[in-house]
Amino acid sequence: TEFDVVVVGSCNMDLISYVPRLPKPGETIHGDKFSLGFGGKGANQCVMAARLGAATAMVAKVGEDVFGGNFIQNFKDNGVNVDHVQETKEASTGVAPIAVNQDGQNSIIIVSGANLKLTAADVREHESVITHAKVLICQLEVQPETSLEALRIAKQHGVTTILNPAPAEATLDPELYKLSDVFCPNETEAEILTGLPVTAVEEAEKAADILLHKGCKKVIITLGEKGCLCKSSMSEKGIHVPARKVSPVDTTGAGDAFVGSLAYYMACHKDLRLEEAIQNACHISSISVCSPGTQTSFPYRKDLPQELL
Ligand code: RIB
Ligand code: NA
Repeated sequence: TEFDVVVVGSCNMDLISYVPRLPKPGETIHGDKFSLGFGGKGANQCVMAARLGAATAMVAKVGEDVFGGNFIQNFKDNGVNVDHVQETKEASTGVAPIAVNQDGQNSIIIVSGANLKLTAADVREHESVITHAKVLICQLEVQPETSLEALRIAKQHGVTTILNPAPAEATLDPELYKLSDVFCPNETEAEILTGLPVTAVEEAEKAADILLHKGCKKVIITLGEKGCLCKSSMSEKGIHVPARKVSPVDTTGAGDAFVGSLAYYMACHKDLRLEEAIQNACHISSISVCSPGTQTSFPYRKDLPQELL
């Protein structure tokens, strides 16, 4: 089978507390509301692409526990192929306790669990699903060797790759850049990776140059309410794509909505210019910040205007 978008990445159960403000170290505060949701950057990006209509498959590991079983069911409910989602006894399903404040900003703790049991050998075992993809997406919530192996297999077979280097580490394996057709950090990740401040579009352009220099073909830095900056190794000037003005309720997973949508447009609308694909992906991401939760806030194809399909 051919897939439009394949994701090799993480599954985390999000344990979301809505709080008046984020707690300080040593402080105890009361939250207003709690919700449980399917998350993890890998799963989120895959579900987003699937909801837009892409044929998707997930390569991941969950624990043999309640969360793991629910996770597999959630993928099925979203039309994601789960033939390559394994259950392990070695660790529990990944979890992410998240606090969201009144401005929609969040802070996240991740306990990776089973995600770290997904190995490069597992990826090789599931090689054919990657070689039959149009677009492969990886993040950094599984072991770096695992993402590396997936990206290597993709590049050997001419599959387009997107790397979302999240959460960021200052020292990234240099090969990860070279294997990325599209390298897509947010502003914080771009700062950590380049050591430069990335608070404005001009700064993002400088950071993009450094990242391009490390060997990726195109860089897209997402800048929250400022939209994003895209620059390719061939062009002299970066392109700034502004975001729609919205009042955010919960920005958790907005980056994942962006990356998953981008993969959908790249795989299923090859005729779109990258700039248009980015514009659409920004639009979808801005829809997601207007409602609570992670995947719960990702729109379905049937809810979108024709121009986004
Ligand atoms: O990007 C948002 C995601 O990051 C959440 O779903 C959480 O699980 C963490 O992985
Ligand atoms: Na949201």
